Amino acid sequence: MIVLENVTKTFPNAERPAVDGVNFQVEEGHICVLVGPSGCGKTTILRMINRLIEPDGGDIYVRGQRLQDDQVDPNQLRRQIGYVIQQIGLLPHRTIEQNVALVPKLLNWPEEDIRRRVEELLEMVGLDPDQVRDQYPLQLSGGMMQRVGVARALAADPPIMLMDEPFGAVDPIVRARLQDEFLRLQREMKKTICFVTHDINEAIKMGDQIVVLNEGRVVQVGTPMRILSHPADGFVQDLIGIEREIKLLELTRAEVLMTSKPSTSVAKKEVAVSVQAVEPAQRALELMMKHDTDIVGVHQHGELVGVISWDDIKKYIKNIRGDAP
Ligand SMILES: Nc1ncnc2c1ncn2[C@@H]1O[C@H](COP(=O)(O)OP(=O)(O)OP(=O)(O)O)[C@@H](O)[C@H]1O
Ligand SMILES: [Mg+2]
Repeated sequence: MIVLENVTKTFPNAERPAVDGVNFQVEEGHICVLVGPSGCGKTTILRMINRLIEPDGGDIYVRGQRLQDDQVDPNQLRRQIGYVIQQIGLLPHRTIEQNVALVPKLLNWPEEDIRRRVEELLEMVGLDPDQVRDQYPLQLSGGMMQRVGVARALAADPPIMLMDEPFGAVDPIVRARLQDEFLRLQREMKKTICFVTHDINEAIKMGDQIVVLNEGRVVQVGTPMRILSHPADGFVQDLIGIEREIKLLELTRAEVLMTSKPSTSVAKKEVAVSVQAVEPAQRALELMMKHDTDIVGVHQHGELVGVISWDDIKKYIKNIRGDAP
């Protein structure tokens, strides 16, 4: 677990603190996303967590250890932490293999173990080791480089990951794929992750918990559902932007909204289109618009188990604003 208590940092000659009395924690095995506009202090927070920058006030605890205590050795701390830096930061004159092997090499792993680990990691992030091992970073696409950056941070299997806009430099389609793959990996790895982005949609998708920042301060902390359903103020509302309701429906399975079970053949006839129970409820809304209908069936294991009506969607949105967790 990572805990920040009243953490403050002012750079020399700055008008205001870059990080101003920040409190939040990252639970063991969770992804906590820091989101906010450029300059709000996201990178500075990550750099304080692995002690590349010292805070000038407050306390940071990593796995129960207070970082500012003298007995905490920064090098030993960083060994527990994988860091994906904002500009990918691959060494241009080293091969992909050498880049990924960087930390294990520093830790003096045996050559054979390093070779095996590099192969395993490249496969894990969806790259063909035989193809990319001996290439140089500039021979790869942006998306491939970002995968290498993630592989390198995972190399020594650290329990904690700090990821600074790890999927920033790619187009939306590649980005969505990298996000999906990373979430799939995380389900097995269960690492404690602090993930930075300025994209609220990425935050909603990746985060167990979201910390919204503005001008060095925490504006709101909560689950994606909570942030969407109860934005703390106008700033968070603007960050979420339009289509808040749609985003809420994306987070909700169709089966949650589904109400009346159609028992009569009449009801069954009304249902021209349907979704799967585990699909996002937002899919039901899409189908309603596409097929100009106000009722959509819900299927599970090939059977019609319920329906979602336009009224069900309206009611759900109204309720959730009243009582999201
Ligand atoms: N080493 C530094 N020296 C002086 N000022 C700095 C330094 N690093 C960051 N700052 C300032 O601190 C503030 C926060 O910067 P930071 O890099 O943490 O923002 P960020 O949220 O990561 O932004 P971005 O989304 O653009 O990466 C900014 O005003 C920045 O100019
Ligand atoms: Mg930054």
